[in-house]
Amino acid sequence: MSEATAFPQHIIARKRDGHELGAAEIRAFVRGATDGSWADYQLSALLMAIFLRGMTSAERVALTEAMMRSGAVADLSAVPGVKVDKHSTGGVGDKVSLPLAAMVAACGVPVPMISGRGLGHTGGTLDKLESIPGFRVGLSLAEYAAQVGRVGCALIGQTKDLAPADKKLYALRDVTATVECLPLICASIMSKKMAEGIDALVLDVKVGHGAFMKTLPEARALASAMCEIGNAMGRPTRALITRMDQPLGRAVGNAVEVAESVACLRGEPGAEDLMEVTYALGAEMLVLAKAAKDEKDARARLAEVIANGAALEKFRQIVAAQGGDPRVCDDPSGVLPRAAHVVEVRAARAGVIGGVDAMAVALAALKMGAGRVRAEDAVDHAVGFTRLAKVGERVAAGDVLGVVHASAAEQAAEARAALESAFTLADAAPEALPLVVERV
Ligand code: URA
Repeated sequence: MSEATAFPQHIIARKRDGHELGAAEIRAFVRGATDGSWADYQLSALLMAIFLRGMTSAERVALTEAMMRSGAVADLSAVPGVKVDKHSTGGVGDKVSLPLAAMVAACGVPVPMISGRGLGHTGGTLDKLESIPGFRVGLSLAEYAAQVGRVGCALIGQTKDLAPADKKLYALRDVTATVECLPLICASIMSKKMAEGIDALVLDVKVGHGAFMKTLPEARALASAMCEIGNAMGRPTRALITRMDQPLGRAVGNAVEVAESVACLRGEPGAEDLMEVTYALGAEMLVLAKAAKDEKDARARLAEVIANGAALEKFRQIVAAQGGDPRVCDDPSGVLPRAAHVVEVRAARAGVIGGVDAMAVALAALKMGAGRVRAEDAVDHAVGFTRLAKVGERVAAGDVLGVVHASAAEQAAEARAALESAFTLADAAPEALPLVVERV
């Protein structure tokens, strides 16, 4: 069917009846979402038909391509080198983007990164960065391209001209029970990533209680579908499936996660799991960018930029370039907002940490205002948790399991109780499970 004769009801009927849509039909749908020529009920009907009937890989690629082209596509061709980004499907305490972007850029690989805000129970890179006084995430695409060229990295938010079809379709999916749909999730994520002007992409697909994907088969399906789209669009894409049962690192919140990221960039110990995921993703990025010959070489280069201070210096340059206070790299607690009420949670008895319920920790942080319940809510950058004990650690009675940072005494008491019950104390150490579960 030609694009001119592709009436919405014909396209909807073909998908309803289980046919594979052609690229022209998919383009007509996406154009209809962007220019308003399809009514919301027609867009919603096709979304539901896609939800029920699914999409072939050719359809998923065509949908991603059409959504990517629904708005501006960043042009980074003037920036030399292979531009590589990382995208995470979202976790608790997942501040990987902060140390990772600085480390990879310090190795000479340009990192153009367009990130999101917190979604559901998960934190968002933009909210974390905005806890640094003055930090601007709202750069234009021209400013973004110029900064990637000048500094080697920019960490910005979605602009309104980037994949506008996704904005429209996501809002409809949200109210028509069509969010949890693999082809729609893949096209939504990948259209925005492909519009960033990247040459290659590494995906961190989280699996576990604290992730959107609770099981390995679900995470695997998402990871391989997204890799297939990226590769088909000529941007080599790899995915790591990483475990998200307990929070990553020891801090959950915004300012507290920036402080933890700075500590990691300074080479300080404490967040070994966070750095394990960061090194694994960074190694994939360096190899994809041909800046390292293999994983071993890549890991050595990443370790070097931590040891010689180049990664911290790169983070300082990014913060300064985006209007943030670069002293955050020297004295995070002096620069970042601090909560008025700081309360320790202590172990009632001796034992081994058997589990830390990432979802419970995330919801307690959300309740304190670390994220949004409604889109228009303001985020409290100072609240959250620090010094969280990790699964497998042995504690004596009275040892600190975590510290609550709250803005009011009542809030602190509530969060303290929630944090206490997020911990399971066991008598013996649970089986140590690998953090990086699979490579796709
Ligand atoms: N994140 C997105 O950007 N889109 C989805 O559909 C799901 C998660």
